[in-house]
Amino acid sequence: DFIKEVSGFSVLEQQLKEILHVDHVIVVPGNSDELDWVKQEMGKASVNYLKTILKANQTIAVTGGTSMAAVAEVMLPLDQASNCMFVPARGGLGERMENQANTICAEMAKKANGQYRLLHVPDPLSEESYQMIIGEPSVGEILELIRDAHVVIHGIGDALTMAQRRKTSLDNTKKIINGHAVSEAFGYYFDKDGKVVHKVRTVGLQLEDLHQSKCVIAVAGGESKAKAIYSYFKQGKSNVLITDEGAANKLARDI
Ligand code: G3H
Repeated sequence: DFIKEVSGFSVLEQQLKEILHVDHVIVVPGNSDELDWVKQEMGKASVNYLKTILKANQTIAVTGGTSMAAVAEVMLPLDQASNCMFVPARGGLGERMENQANTICAEMAKKANGQYRLLHVPDPLSEESYQMIIGEPSVGEILELIRDAHVVIHGIGDALTMAQRRKTSLDNTKKIINGHAVSEAFGYYFDKDGKVVHKVRTVGLQLEDLHQSKCVIAVAGGESKAKAIYSYFKQGKSNVLITDEGAANKLARDI
């Protein structure tokens, strides 16, 4: 705590709480745009935070992305939260294997000494297949676990960066650009006011499922994500932000 005071992060954390209207903020040193290990520091802060809130037999829904992959990389046994269950928050969003929620969720569970369940659904789903898949009893069972998750941990991306990284069709890319999307989380794209301008059609967690009773933790850093973080928090569905100095300074100064 002494080091925190000296480096001034507690002031920055307080500022961010007010700017973003979020209950709890953790800032780690560095800028993950420039240094890769800063993502791992955010990962460690996330694991430490999970250790303080998770209880035995709880379910944690996890999204994809490199920030979540960094959390999985540094995950440790969650001994105080025995028999925890990790589930992917949503089905595939067009990410490569190492960035998929399924992959990350299995790795987290293994390192945390927990259980996991996966969602085997192809991504970009047609309306017809979507209806068929959610009707499958085996899928329904996992969807229920996801909806009832006690904790959700997710990344936030810059909208265009995410649209490009995923197999986004031309039509949907146009929707994202014409809707002036700024941020992305859970496969939802938000404009500067936090309005949803596009949503990837897949099964799993929907924005409406993020009730106040859940603990919803966003992990996102890097100066380049400041605008995206601000846009995402406009609709205020998450109550914790774990970020880095790069994003935090930009948010506190320029937005
Ligand atoms: O789902 C992906 C996130 O929104 C952002 O991904 O952590 O790789 O930047 P990232």
